[in-house]
Amino acid sequence: GPPLTILGLESSCDDTAAAIVQVGTEGPNILAQVVEGQTQLHNDFGGVVPEIAARAHTEKLDGCVAKVLEQTSKSLDDIDAIAVTSGPGLIGGVLAGVMCAKGLSAGSGKPLIGVNHLAGHALTPRLSDGIAYPYLMLLVSGGHCQFLEVKSPTSYRRLGGTIDDAPGEAFDKTARLLGLAQPGGPSVENEAKNGNPKTYKLPRPLLDRNGCDMSFSGLKTALLRARDAIVEEHGGLPQAHRRDLCAAFQNAVTDVLVEKTRRAIALCPDATAVAVAGGVAANMTIRQGLVALCNAQDLPFVAPPLNLCTDNAAMIAYAGAELFALGHYDDLTLSARPRWPL
Ligand code: KG4
Ligand code: ZN
Repeated sequence: GPPLTILGLESSCDDTAAAIVQVGTEGPNILAQVVEGQTQLHNDFGGVVPEIAARAHTEKLDGCVAKVLEQTSKSLDDIDAIAVTSGPGLIGGVLAGVMCAKGLSAGSGKPLIGVNHLAGHALTPRLSDGIAYPYLMLLVSGGHCQFLEVKSPTSYRRLGGTIDDAPGEAFDKTARLLGLAQPGGPSVENEAKNGNPKTYKLPRPLLDRNGCDMSFSGLKTALLRARDAIVEEHGGLPQAHRRDLCAAFQNAVTDVLVEKTRRAIALCPDATAVAVAGGVAANMTIRQGLVALCNAQDLPFVAPPLNLCTDNAAMIAYAGAELFALGHYDDLTLSARPRWPL
């Protein structure tokens, strides 16, 4: 059939985003996308403040939509449907997006598609690399950590995930413990480059347990103990020791993710590829570990470009297009679902 043109909206955490994606016989094409972050707004509070986030989304959404329409010289008449993250996430932000999308839908008569934010992440490797179902997905960000077998836009099998912190959260807390800047992932990775990962021994939580579940909070506790011992001995945290701690932490996270991915692969014999998404997928040591594993198992490894790995609206528009092509859409009774497992 003719190409589908979908407008996507995302506002479930601290990024406000809009995008227009076209899906035709040649595959998907991102015609325009904007992401407006709120890091500035929340920096003073040491984390995302839900009420501030919700208000900022409400203020920014219309502008984001106007921008992508203008960048593509399109009006709502040229759009086939409006896709919006309707959960899971912070309720105020999700509601802001759903209300904006309903307004656009009511005004234009275009159908509305509620998209699960996790489905957006999980389908991203098809948007970026066109991989075929089924595939194994490792979703690792500041808020998510799970293995999914992705079988279709509406069929996911959860193989395991963290039982406490997400890895990005652990990187952020580690940075805080060591006096490094937020977001912690890039700071810790940068320090680790010149560190010796063998100086300090950190645990590999849950590696002795079967299955794909993971735990990262014990790692942080062990790191805190090691830091306090160094401070006790040196009256401070010398840079060389800090680097060694970062390297030890990063290697421990990598070991856990790689070994659990090996087990997840064994549970998905039909997988065409292993894909990652989420901010933590930017980490080069973690990527290299996964690349080596996939090479050894003769499986393609897919890491979408970073701007599609982190929160964005192109993934929501694309997931909306896949759902719409299968005949799935919603009406103005669409509601926000702050908790919504895949
Ligand atoms: O996907 P994302 O942008 O937002 C959500 O959490 O939804 O991921 C952000 C997380 C933060 O915790 C950040 O510290 C982490 O991803 N991160 C990294 C790296 N870059 C970002 N973690 C490890 N290494 C990195 N290079
Ligand atoms: Zn996300």
